[in-house]
Amino acid sequence: MLYRKYRPQTFNEVVGQQHVVQTLRGALTSGRVSHAYLFCGPRGTGKTTLARLLAKSLNCEKRTKEGDCDDSCGACLAVNNNNSLDLIEIDAASNRGIDEIRNLKESALVAAPGGKYKIFIIDEVHMLTKDAFNALLKILEEPPAHVVFVLATTEPHKMLPTVLSRVQRFDFKRLTPKEIDGKLKGMLKLEGIVVDPEGIMAIAMSSDGALRDAEVSLSKVIASHDWKTQISVDDVYNSLGLIPLNYYPEFLGYLATGNKSLALDFVNKAYSSGVDVGQFASGFVEYLRRILMHTINPSVLVSVGEELLDQDLKLVSTYSQALTQQQLIRMMNVFVSAKEGIKSSPIPQLPLELAVLEILG
Ligand SMILES: Nc1ncnc2c1ncn2[C@@H]1O[C@H](COP(=O)(O)OP(=O)(O)O)[C@@H](O)[C@H]1O
Ligand SMILES: [Mg+2]
Ligand SMILES: [Zn+2]
Repeated sequence: MLYRKYRPQTFNEVVGQQHVVQTLRGALTSGRVSHAYLFCGPRGTGKTTLARLLAKSLNCEKRTKEGDCDDSCGACLAVNNNNSLDLIEIDAASNRGIDEIRNLKESALVAAPGGKYKIFIIDEVHMLTKDAFNALLKILEEPPAHVVFVLATTEPHKMLPTVLSRVQRFDFKRLTPKEIDGKLKGMLKLEGIVVDPEGIMAIAMSSDGALRDAEVSLSKVIASHDWKTQISVDDVYNSLGLIPLNYYPEFLGYLATGNKSLALDFVNKAYSSGVDVGQFASGFVEYLRRILMHTINPSVLVSVGEELLDQDLKLVSTYSQALTQQQLIRMMNVFVSAKEGIKSSPIPQLPLELAVLEILG
């Protein structure tokens, strides 16, 4: 799996999350590392990765002055090989009870050999039972000097305020399609595999900001084409069941020019080629939303890394007369209803056809 092979081994390799990287570097170089961190955020965005990097840097025998680990001393290699005695990872989803936390406490009280830090990573910490949580809280109240806790969760709203007040919290962000695209391209280069750039971007855009999901998708594509040296964009779409990126602008073009028959034809061709109509409806609404945001203020999209692709920019300027804000809002409402209708429709593509007719009158 690519995502294991390409887990960042130093801070430099981390994509995005620069607010976290910089603060951790600062803490390491100034010697002011907290005893407890809380890493919150969506899955696959680097929480475990950064927790492990913090552990490596803390105990590295040759830490750089920027706070990076050397990734080659005994302590670093032990972490890389998953046999470090100073890094303890607990999955709270499967170890939820008070006994686990009692064991953890006992282990925390024993100093790490060689004056090193003991780092405990507790993943999905919101899953702990109430008793276990309270026991953890007790430890966090008076943590031993050589211990650093990294609590990770995808659901920070489930954390008690008593815990929140004792940790330094970092909120991990979804990665932008551009950031994901960049990392996938880097990996492919190292693997010596050529994938059509549109296919790579399609993967990046379909993974909802989770780099791991994108890497898993890419692994799947590669695994199902391992006799090929060049993977085409259709290979990508077919093996992942993705809706091609050019479907949305094509469809919107028919709506913008009022071409009823081509729009209906498109719906039926897409359906018979195996496109999931529900997925298409939501994808199209999401697409319209981005166009709308662009017409209001392009910098909104740029700031979250969702700027339009060249093909979309061209479309917006070609059809600027037809794609007014009002019209876009109307289309979105119609397709949101169509998406709802699909669930109960006896003919899957019918709600999309009705949506076309409603918009084009
Ligand atoms: N910010 C990131 N920079 C580089 N790679 C990342 C990043 N986030 C996730 N990854 C990739 O995804 C994999 C899983 O990341 P992980 O840190 O376990 O995510 P999380 O703990 O947030 O679910 C990593 O091995 C790495 O390949
Ligand atoms: Mg994790
Ligand atoms: Zn080292």
